Amino acid sequence: MNAYLQLLFNKKSFQNSLLFILALAIAPLAFSQTSATAPVDDAAVRERANLLLKQMTLEEKIGQLSQLFDFGKEKAIDDAVSKGQLGSLLFVTDPAEINRLQHLAVEHTRLHIPLIFGFDVIHGFRTIFPVPIAMAASWDPSTATKAQTIAAKEARAVGIDWTFAPMLDIARDPRWGRIVEGAGEDPYLGSAMAAGQVRGFQGDYIGAPDHILACMKHFAGYGAAIGGRDYDETYLPETLLQNVYLKPFHAAVKAGIGSAMSAYLDLNDVPATGNRWLLHDVLRDEWKFTGFVVSDANSVKSLQNHGYAQDVYEAGLDAFKAGVNMEMAIGFTAFSKSLAAALEKNQISAQQIEDAARPILEMKIRLGLFEHPYVDEARSREILATPEHRTAARLAAERTAVLLRNQDAFLPLKKDAYKKIAVIGPLADSQVDTLGSWVFQHDLAETVTVLAGLRHKLSAQADLSYAPGVQISRKFPSFFDEIFHLKPQPVWTPEQSKDEMSKAVDLARSSDLTILILGEAQNMSGEAASRESLDLPGQEENLLESVAATGKPVVLVLFNGRPLNVQWAAQHIPAILDAWYPGTQGGNAVANLLFGDAVPGGKLPITWPRDVGQVPIYYAHNTTQAPQNQGKRYWDEESTPLYPFGYGLSYSKFTFSNLRLSRNEIKPGETIDVSVDLENIGVTSADEVAQLYIHQQYGSTSRPVRELKGFERVTLAAHEKKTLHFSLGNDELTSWSTAKKAWVEEPATFDVWAGADSTAKLHANFAITQ
Ligand code: NOJ
Repeated sequence: MNAYLQLLFNKKSFQNSLLFILALAIAPLAFSQTSATAPVDDAAVRERANLLLKQMTLEEKIGQLSQLFDFGKEKAIDDAVSKGQLGSLLFVTDPAEINRLQHLAVEHTRLHIPLIFGFDVIHGFRTIFPVPIAMAASWDPSTATKAQTIAAKEARAVGIDWTFAPMLDIARDPRWGRIVEGAGEDPYLGSAMAAGQVRGFQGDYIGAPDHILACMKHFAGYGAAIGGRDYDETYLPETLLQNVYLKPFHAAVKAGIGSAMSAYLDLNDVPATGNRWLLHDVLRDEWKFTGFVVSDANSVKSLQNHGYAQDVYEAGLDAFKAGVNMEMAIGFTAFSKSLAAALEKNQISAQQIEDAARPILEMKIRLGLFEHPYVDEARSREILATPEHRTAARLAAERTAVLLRNQDAFLPLKKDAYKKIAVIGPLADSQVDTLGSWVFQHDLAETVTVLAGLRHKLSAQADLSYAPGVQISRKFPSFFDEIFHLKPQPVWTPEQSKDEMSKAVDLARSSDLTILILGEAQNMSGEAASRESLDLPGQEENLLESVAATGKPVVLVLFNGRPLNVQWAAQHIPAILDAWYPGTQGGNAVANLLFGDAVPGGKLPITWPRDVGQVPIYYAHNTTQAPQNQGKRYWDEESTPLYPFGYGLSYSKFTFSNLRLSRNEIKPGETIDVSVDLENIGVTSADEVAQLYIHQQYGSTSRPVRELKGFERVTLAAHEKKTLHFSLGNDELTSWSTAKKAWVEEPATFDVWAGADSTAKLHANFAITQ
């Protein structure tokens, strides 16, 4: 510990010393820049936190448990910071303002405890990467690690120490708007993406230079909101909670995540923010999580809305007793109203308050905030403008796109084959819609729309014209529009709408090729963006079918955060590329993919329904009565999806062969090695994602028809062949048995499949014997 810090921790001698004045004077100079260069020893961190706690008043301790939104310079916030009544602020992103507030915390408070600044760094800070569901479509956790490493670096450069990400909510109902923020429907893929993101945000250890603290959210079950309606209650049986919904969170804890956010939802009638079973029994007792829990915004006070807490006082108490360490709120926290009084009434103990504050202080120590509370504003400007970040964003967008249809190898397009190209659709030249939701600090000057990307690529060869064709909007506006500073566009009159549609169709008719960019605007996907239909919004379907009716070749590029109803397109449009919301470099990535300078290799992280009536639909369902009629559960429509989980095409072709198991029988706890040969039989170097599925044929509970238990994204040159290896052991073969109320690895016969998606045919068997 250096002399300055020793002084900090020895208040008396510190305050009495001349050095105090000196130290304060040099603090901003001596302690700016980023965080620790080596992990801090656990015992030393604990000791430092305890030392601080010994010196803290009750008010200061409760202050650490409070986090407020700061949307601008507010006197009340300045006062609270100066009095040590706040531990954290969120939504401040200007480094100068962060330094100003940090000075108040570090220099005006008795114990000089820095604030921790939080923000939603979801898929990038300045450089925006594809949305999280797209990242999952890369089936490549290292792509997510790279993206979040860059996001962390940019955020840390402005003084943000903590992100409210990754969102680990499994989602099986695409009506739910926040499906865009997660990794889709599967616990195994979700867990891999969770760990990949934690590594990216936090680096090798909490406090690694240029990294930030991650926060897994929303703990837990939020993705199963009933009817897909955001914020509504969730009923999840134990088997789904344990085997599916909690899995990615556990993976993040195993990866060393330092914080968690309690969810808005009511889980099986106990709101998550007041749910001690979740926040304490599972998270701390079972998983040994040692970080801290922050509530979602206002979710403590809203325990009243749930009909759970009688008033604000009780809401604060309930959340605190359940295991919330820090309350995120607008205006004031319930904790500030209830905890001191509750202590007086002996409803909680002083020890409990210390225990709640300790992990928050520990994270501040680990992040190096005591030594380096300030940011270097000049450095932040440099880092935010790094061109390599944009290159990484483009590569990520290329890796995340999913080729859904490519009839007769329509794609890739030849650059000199079309003289006149029509680019049509309301999203084709919209920068914000190229980025997706949850971006507030994006760089519009660097954001490349599909139209701009195509112009960039083809200006020498082709004449490109653009027509929006239709306008799309929500029936009920999004509260994010205001935060996003989105001005509502003037709405077209019925005559204008007719004209614009005709212009677009005429343009298609007079062109050699049309590239249609359709899907949802960014505000149609994300928080408070659920919908009851999955159809292309507004008149987009009409535009699509009218353009196709010209008989000219059409390619469809989708922008979306959820699967949409593209049944008609899937039969009539030769090529469909799902670009999701591809981010800052989206337009360049799409242009590269369409014209063969990049080859699509993404795969669906979610089952793609034919229509909304099929949802929830997911591949890992159970077999039941009459399994031979599984695809005919409805009399009016197939009950199979339009595109299965794990699906995605390439410009090349691959074969899987020679599935081998190292053993046919194992005992519980033993491992089987699985290998399979993958060959690129095409003429293009390309990526394939090898996927391994299992099925436990019988046991104390019924298990899903298939469960993903291994995958690897591989690049193979034309005609290259590679043997891939997976292993199936205790982690893969254990499941929660509701019958036995335990994790079990049961004697049974197992099927194994390897292939390119969840319908893989290549099959083998093994057994677990007693
Ligand atoms: C509410 C959202 O549910 C959560 O995901 C987000 O992190 C917080 N607001 C803070 O913006």
